[in-house]
Amino acid sequence: MIHAPEHIKSISPYVPGKPVEELERELGISGSIKLASNENPLGPSPLAIRELRKGIRGLNRYPDGSCFYLKDALSAKLNIRPEEILFGNGSNELIELAVRTFMSPGDEAIMAHPSFVVYSMIVQAVNGRSIMAPLKDWRHDLDEMAARITPKTKIIFIANPNNPTGTVNTKAEMERLMNKVPEGVLVVVDEAYCEYVASPEYADSLKYFRNGRDILILRTFSKIYGLAGLRIGYGIANPSLTTEMNRVRQPFNVNSLAQKAASAALNDEKHIARSKRKNEAGKKYLYKELGKLGFTFVPTEANFIYVPLKDHGAFSLYNALLREGVIVRPMGQDAVRVTIGLPEENRKLIAALKTCKM
Ligand SMILES: Cc1ncc(COP(=O)(O)O)c(C=O)c1O
Repeated sequence: MIHAPEHIKSISPYVPGKPVEELERELGISGSIKLASNENPLGPSPLAIRELRKGIRGLNRYPDGSCFYLKDALSAKLNIRPEEILFGNGSNELIELAVRTFMSPGDEAIMAHPSFVVYSMIVQAVNGRSIMAPLKDWRHDLDEMAARITPKTKIIFIANPNNPTGTVNTKAEMERLMNKVPEGVLVVVDEAYCEYVASPEYADSLKYFRNGRDILILRTFSKIYGLAGLRIGYGIANPSLTTEMNRVRQPFNVNSLAQKAASAALNDEKHIARSKRKNEAGKKYLYKELGKLGFTFVPTEANFIYVPLKDHGAFSLYNALLREGVIVRPMGQDAVRVTIGLPEENRKLIAALKTCKM
């Protein structure tokens, strides 16, 4: 019998939601909606769909392992050199690549709590230690995170906006942190939702990359670009870092359809603007209606809303909403996170909450 080592056995696996069809079958309902994974409810860009149709014919071939054309397009859009860009099978893979490239057993990574759960899972998988700094007013407390730096610290993870709270860190906070981060510590700024942010105070991570700092900026095509199912994200870092990460990267980690769809979606400004507009309108509606129902919520800069609950009620609310055909995400016992959906989906959520409250 083969045994996994203790540090692997102690990982709590990520629990995926059930497929909608399966839940409907179990509960004997239909027409349910999923507001649980922060996807773009408008779907992929029509330009991406067109490219996907064309790309199917080339599926007998391996993908381009360098993502040449996509890298070129992104490089032009962001004014960044191609060698400063790295693609992953979702930005999740880039989180894993960063950890596997730069951390050894016993090293430490600092992250906020609650934040994106994948950071600590991957750190655990390499037998590293996750050092958690609690959020302050639902936001990353970057001063507290800096205070936790030790000689063993290799990575600091900052989700900006944060998942699950939707909050952002400001330019001034980031500047203070970057002034305290010593040489040899990599700052990973995870900007999966950056395209949704409206705050003028939002930290500019590219500034630190351009100043030659040890920073890895992660972004994704899974959110505003509407391509979560294809799995593609990108990282921006100086070539000294991307070169090391490329040693660990699998040669064909990004599939050919994802590359084609991402290239098309990248410059579909119409779809991006529409997605942002719909999100803003949905946010306004949900703030108003959640407030009327007596819920508190954390103002968001992303495409989801964090709703703290009293009396450890997250799972009972989650289950009650499920019976009404609305799937949200419980965040421990004390909060649920709801993705902002299409207008009719948001209305269904509010109607279901009204029923649950009765
Ligand atoms: C903060 C954050 N980072 C990264 C990801 C991963 O995105 P993907 O692997 O789909 O690019 C997510 C997904 O929900 C997220 O919320």
